[in-house]
Amino acid sequence: MENVVYPNHLGIIMDGNGRWAKERGLNRSLGHKAGADNLINLLNYIYKNTSIKVVSLYAFSTENFKRDKNEVDYLMKLFVTLFNSKLESIKKNNVKVVFSGRRENLSKSVLEAMDKTTDDTKNNTKGILNICLNYGGDYEIVDMAKKVAKQVLDGTLNIEDITKEVVSKNLYQDLPPLDFVIRTSGEKRISNFMIYQSSYAEYDFPDTYFPDFDSKCLEESLDNYRKRDRRFGNAK
Ligand code: FPP
Repeated sequence: MENVVYPNHLGIIMDGNGRWAKERGLNRSLGHKAGADNLINLLNYIYKNTSIKVVSLYAFSTENFKRDKNEVDYLMKLFVTLFNSKLESIKKNNVKVVFSGRRENLSKSVLEAMDKTTDDTKNNTKGILNICLNYGGDYEIVDMAKKVAKQVLDGTLNIEDITKEVVSKNLYQDLPPLDFVIRTSGEKRISNFMIYQSSYAEYDFPDTYFPDFDSKCLEESLDNYRKRDRRFGNAK
C-alpha cells in the first residue's frame, strides 16, 4: 500500500442499480438493495486496504425525488437501515460520516438516522465518508452563496475577504478537492455531482453496473487513475 499512489478524495456515482435489476427480471428496488450490499463491501475494502482518506458517494440527488413513490420510499427505508446498522463496520473502522445536501423533504426517520450517524462518528479520525443525500451541486453553490451573503450583511465578513477558502468552508462540508470520480454503468455524465469540488478531478466511466462493481473493478479504475498525467493547468 505504501508505494502505491491513491487519490486522497474519491467520488463514486453509484449508477446502474435499476438496469442491474431489470436484466434479472427483478424490481428496481432490489437493484438498490444489491447496490447497498456491494457498497458496504467496497467501503470496507477501501478503508482497510488503501490510503484513500475521503470517499464521497452520490446516494440520492434532489432530482431523484421525481422517481416513482414506491422506489423513493424503498430507498429512504434502505438509507435508514444502512445508517442505523449496516454502516456499523465503517463506524468501527474509525471513519467519520458526514452528509451533504438539503434537509428539506427528508422524513424525520431519515434525518434522525443521519444525525445519529454524524454524532456517533464525529470524533473518528481515520477517514471521512461524505454521503450526498438530497444533494445537487447547483443547490450547494446557491446555499453557499446565501450563507456568505448573510455574513457580509451582518458585518462578520468583508466582500474583499471572500476567498476560495471561505467558499469551501461554506459548502455543505469543508472537504479537500476531489482527485478521482468513478461513475459506474457506462453513463458519461457528471449529473450535478460536487461540481465545485471536482474542478481538477480525473474521471473513469466503467461499464459495470454498481451492484457488480467490486474491489477488483475498483482496482482497475484506480490503475486508470495512476496512468493519468495530472497537470492542474500547468504546461507539460
Ligand atoms: C442510481 O442507479 C442509484 C441510485 C439513485 C441510488 C444509489 C443508492 C445506493 C447504492 C444505496 C446505498 C447508498 C448509500 C450511500 C446509503 P439508477 O437507479 O439510476 O440505475 P439505472 O440508471 O440503471 O436506472
